[in-house]
Amino acid sequence: MLRLTLRPLLLAATLMTGLAACSGGDTSETAATKAAGEAPPILKEREENFEAIGKAFKAVRGQLDADAPDFALIAASATDINTRAQAIPNHFPAGTSTADGFKTEALPAIWEKPEEFKAAAQKLIDESAKLASLAPGGDKAAVAAQAMAMGGTCKGCHDKFRLDDEK
Ligand code: HEC
Repeated sequence: MLRLTLRPLLLAATLMTGLAACSGGDTSETAATKAAGEAPPILKEREENFEAIGKAFKAVRGQLDADAPDFALIAASATDINTRAQAIPNHFPAGTSTADGFKTEALPAIWEKPEEFKAAAQKLIDESAKLASLAPGGDKAAVAAQAMAMGGTCKGCHDKFRLDDEK
């Protein structure tokens, strides 16, 4: 009930804010707001996708450090990475590199060598699929080796296509 009554109020508030922004007035503030809001949503989407890939990979490594790894969790994490890796090539529309003034680590090389970038994403797709199918077998050494191979594809892509701001 509360939700039903609150919703139109929220909508009205949003509308009014929108109208105020359109009515001109303080142009400098309008311009600043626009600049801040201009980053395409895809930037956030791809960042969140990589963050989740990072978390899933961490979960895999955490399990492999344990005495009795949860191989089902490793398999699930690898499957998650696999799904997310398939989204990577669609997360880089033109005009969203470090050269475009956005807060991003996506180097222009992604658009200069699109085939190479796609191949780098495909490597992660392939290696995470292998990890997902290997993990349920429970052979720790083999799973660890495959996790390493998958990790190599992260580094392979980052070295060429991601801004290294940690150096
Ligand atoms: C095909 C290339 C590619 C592959 C493969 C790849 N990455 Fe990335 N990764 C990138 C790029 C490009 C960025 C920077 C994205 C941006 O700033 O918009 C990034 C950013 C990240 C980030 C930072 C996200 C943030 O908060 O901004 C993490 C964490 C990450 N990757 C982890 C991984 C892990 C772990 C793997 C392997 C399991 C992996 N990546 C595989 C290209 C790749």
